[in-house]
Amino acid sequence: MSQPRSARITGWGAYTPPNVLTNDDLSRIVDTSDDWIASRTGIRERRVAGPDETTASMAAEAGLRAVTVAGLQPDDIDVIIVATLTPDHLTPATSVLVKEALGAQRAAAFDVGAACSGFVYGYATAHAYVMSGLARHALIIGSELLTRFLDWTDRNTCVLFGDGAGAVVVSASDQPGGGMSGLELTADPAGAWSIWIPAGGARRPSTPEVLAGAEQYLRMNGRDTYRYATKTIASTALAAIAQAGWTADQVDLFVPHQANARIIESVAAGLGIPMERIYLDLERYGNTSAASVPIALAEAVQEGRVRPGDRVLFVAFGAGFTSGAAAVTWTADPADGLRAAEAPRLTPIHQPAGWDAGNPVPEVVARVLARKQELTEVPA
Ligand code: ACO
Repeated sequence: MSQPRSARITGWGAYTPPNVLTNDDLSRIVDTSDDWIASRTGIRERRVAGPDETTASMAAEAGLRAVTVAGLQPDDIDVIIVATLTPDHLTPATSVLVKEALGAQRAAAFDVGAACSGFVYGYATAHAYVMSGLARHALIIGSELLTRFLDWTDRNTCVLFGDGAGAVVVSASDQPGGGMSGLELTADPAGAWSIWIPAGGARRPSTPEVLAGAEQYLRMNGRDTYRYATKTIASTALAAIAQAGWTADQVDLFVPHQANARIIESVAAGLGIPMERIYLDLERYGNTSAASVPIALAEAVQEGRVRPGDRVLFVAFGAGFTSGAAAVTWTADPADGLRAAEAPRLTPIHQPAGWDAGNPVPEVVARVLARKQELTEVPA
């Protein structure tokens, strides 16, 4: 394959499950309130995947929209990269299941694990594949089903996260310019135990004791993460901007990881960036980890916040600690986003013979959602 002159985003898409869990709903599960959650984080509600939804199925929905927006067929895709910390299984890779759902025949498929920074890491990987000539079209998806990895008795964590997926297609172009011109990726093992899932891996396999101690769920030291995030988002963003030869005030739109509005506001104040140039949707989705930047990007384009020639910055941080920022010159016509409605149907992902996953939605969440449904149903 010949080497292209640039690697450009040609498709984008998002999928969020229809079930909405509000802060008030959460106050029926743990001792919390809308006021506490909204004032400390900016989050008002989040989405919860239904019984038939998985990380792979949501990834496939977002991925197929991105492929369709790019004007491509699934068979045009050379590599599928899924960034997730909540895979359907430890193995096979979620990306392989996504390949089946897309009906793609040719693509290589693998997952990237960098927690909330995973999409930026995956985007950088896709860019390298395309620029080296290894792939002509790469699909990178951030997909998370965090609601099944949370301890619903721990108010410190269960109020923060939600489910969803976002995707982009990166394609080879003969035109120079456009695409990514600055990148910074960091990893700091000092923060390894600030956000972690203690058990279910090789260091501590699942046992009845593990389940009794809720060690299979995500744990987070919020204050350490907050301190790290405010410092690192700014430095990572500035490094990518400098590499692109830009200054912070030349960036038209910041698309940050949507973890906490206070973190984003404090970084914006530190860098002297007005909030109008920052895209925020965490009020509606909470923290969707690796899915947060691509969902925000897809919505920003759809809302007319991004135009060809705009300088866009993706910036994320998360467990590891990891961080990533990519400076991108936008080239695609936002009107291409309308094609998402033409996305074909997905192929069902086949299951092992004789194996049944049961209903994977946490019981306490399913109960609150079912009660809401009952209350909103109009009597016949
Ligand atoms: N409702 C009511 N009270 C609560 C809740 C809740 N949901 N959660 C905690 N509290 C209480 C605590 O128990 C504590 O009470 P105490 O003082 O009596 O012990 C009090 O509120 C203050 O707790 P703090 O942890 O100090 O609250 P803080 O203002 O730091 O906000 C938060 C907590 C929102 C988690 C914040 O620290 C934060 O956003 N951290 C960063 C998280 C993040 O960005 N993660 C992204 C990476 S995630 C990834 O990679 C998967």
